[in-house]
Amino acid sequence: MNRQAKTVSDAIATRKTVRAFRPDPVARATIEEILTLAMRAPSGGNLQPWRVYVLLGAARDALVRRVAEVRKDHPMGSAPEYHVYPPKLSEPYRTRRFRIGEAMYATMGIPREDKMARLRFFSGNWDFFGAPVGLIFTMDRQMQEGQWADLGMFMENIMLLAREKGLHTCPQEAWAVFHQTIRDYLSVPEGEMIFCGMAIGTADETAPVNALTSERAPLSEIATFREG
Ligand SMILES: Cc1cc2nc3c(=O)[nH]c(=O)nc-3n(C[C@H](O)[C@H](O)[C@H](O)COP(=O)(O)O)c2cc1C
Repeated sequence: MNRQAKTVSDAIATRKTVRAFRPDPVARATIEEILTLAMRAPSGGNLQPWRVYVLLGAARDALVRRVAEVRKDHPMGSAPEYHVYPPKLSEPYRTRRFRIGEAMYATMGIPREDKMARLRFFSGNWDFFGAPVGLIFTMDRQMQEGQWADLGMFMENIMLLAREKGLHTCPQEAWAVFHQTIRDYLSVPEGEMIFCGMAIGTADETAPVNALTSERAPLSEIATFREG
């Protein structure tokens, strides 16, 4: 699982959301190299609207501790600054979301009724699932839908380049519910919206949750071809 990807196809095929990491450190230089190349992502008008805060070592641990402190009174944080999902998610998206959740908890043998165990696992988000590197992505509030796509391309580049280093990632919207804590801790200007986090590190190959392979809809469901 932790072998390096050698081609773009290999990086895409082996990228998956990893939800258990080994504590092995990742050098700051490695992250700098990944980010520098990831910034070659295209963006409409070359706005390069992305902004990222990199948390390593004690700085990463301190955010985790702060959020743990806040969670004592607000276990699920507060409303994010944007709709993580549409308020009324319709089909087929609802079912897709349900299925990935069920498949994920099934890898660990956690049934639907065991809400506590599910919450305990989900809370691992706020420890970057044990990864040594945490990223927080923000964007200037004036930006519109086009720039959200640009940010996504930057993030995907990071995730694919991580694979080339033998590393894995977890993009994490879960951090959005602690936007105020993050803002205070990192002194993020009010003009920047806190979008999401990302864990980067070495996958724990022994963790059952990392055996999960997510489904995809068939090509015919998402692509419309017109020919001739
Ligand atoms: C922007 C974004 C935010 C996400 N946030 C979370 C998160 O907070 N926690 C989590 O466990 N997975 C999160 N995911 C991972 C998705 O659940 C995952 O990408 C999807 O189920 C497909 O699985 P795969 O990445 O393994 O292919 C996020 C993915 C994206 C793109």
